[in-house]
Amino acid sequence: MRGGSATVTKDREGDVATLESGEKIQFVDLKKQYQRLKPLIDRRIQDVLDHGAYVNGPEIGELEDTLAQRAGAEKVITVASGTDALLIPLMAEGIGEGDAVFLPAFTYNATANAVIMAGATPVFVDIDPETYNMDPDHLEHQIADVVAEGRNFPRAIVPVDLFGLPADYHRINKIAEKHNMFVLADAAQSLGGALDGQNVGSLAPVTATSFFPSKTLGAYGDAGAIFSRDGDRAQVWESIRWHGTDPQKKESIRIGMNGRMDSIQAAVLLSKLTIFDEELAVRRNLAALYTTQLDTYVQTPKAQEGALSAWGLYSIVSDSREAIQKALQDADIPSAIYYTMPLHQHRAFTPYAPKDGLPQCEAMSEKILTLPLHPYLSEDQVMRVCDVVCSAVTRNSP
Ligand SMILES: Cc1ncc(COP(=O)(O)O)c(C=O)c1O
Repeated sequence: MRGGSATVTKDREGDVATLESGEKIQFVDLKKQYQRLKPLIDRRIQDVLDHGAYVNGPEIGELEDTLAQRAGAEKVITVASGTDALLIPLMAEGIGEGDAVFLPAFTYNATANAVIMAGATPVFVDIDPETYNMDPDHLEHQIADVVAEGRNFPRAIVPVDLFGLPADYHRINKIAEKHNMFVLADAAQSLGGALDGQNVGSLAPVTATSFFPSKTLGAYGDAGAIFSRDGDRAQVWESIRWHGTDPQKKESIRIGMNGRMDSIQAAVLLSKLTIFDEELAVRRNLAALYTTQLDTYVQTPKAQEGALSAWGLYSIVSDSREAIQKALQDADIPSAIYYTMPLHQHRAFTPYAPKDGLPQCEAMSEKILTLPLHPYLSEDQVMRVCDVVCSAVTRNSP
């Protein structure tokens, strides 16, 4: 509730339509989460200030072990951001010039930036319009095209678990095996998701995630992690994240970077992990409520069999997107468009645009809309959002 008074919203005709009482709906509510965890977070941060190991403190190893155990991964190493978590494994595999790396065009620009920073050529793949994730049939088609063209060598696939839903790793891992390619899962949005009972972090040989504050598990700044199903790989990542030095940190044995996570961020993440499962359960419950309420009005997110989304974001698809967004805005409800443009249409990436375009990605960017979803939203607030969405669609129907 703003200033303790009711929120008045107007409908499209300008009448005073609803008198809602209740708090303003936030797109993400990190303040409430902090209030809940304040004693623990404050104590954990104070511990770092007291021991003084601001870089490579004991929280780093503790977090890495906790994340590995939760994900069923053999080894996790923490890094400075989700982008570093993508770049470091590509560098470690020696992926670069002359290599083609396949990724969906409907994702955040960081996925493509990491590929290009590694020196490889991104090959954009279209998406499945139901799951919003990489379409494995189109992936096969794009690999065949690269092989036929003969200019680049198909080296790696970077599937993205968009909005929290694991990509179709059953098929993608098989395609990779067939072509002897490396799979690096971009799980920046999906920590907490699962596929056939196996958690994100162990669905591909290597998984990258981001702890950007608004992610399902968010730090108080930039941070990320790399998960491996095989421990040997992680030794090279540890070297790259520490300027490419040997384990004694005496000599540069490869090209590296400053890719380390701060101890304070690890302290925050360890605190948040104590309630992570509860938060995921709330996200799932609210997402299910959205789907029940909205399914006959708009396209709601669909998961492939056996897949459990982490519900990083809840995104609907509708021809009435503009009307819905306007109605939400009038009702003081935040929404966002992820993504207004598929990557192959961004100026920086047009040199890599497939010549026939990517019709599903292009259509999706015209119709997708993300609604508020976070663990501190109430069912009543979700119902308020749904009322506004359903009335806007009804009014906008011919
Ligand atoms: C799909 C995807 N990949 C990569 C990233 C990059 O993560 P970071 O911002 O931590 O570098 C993000 C962040 O939003 C993302 O959503």
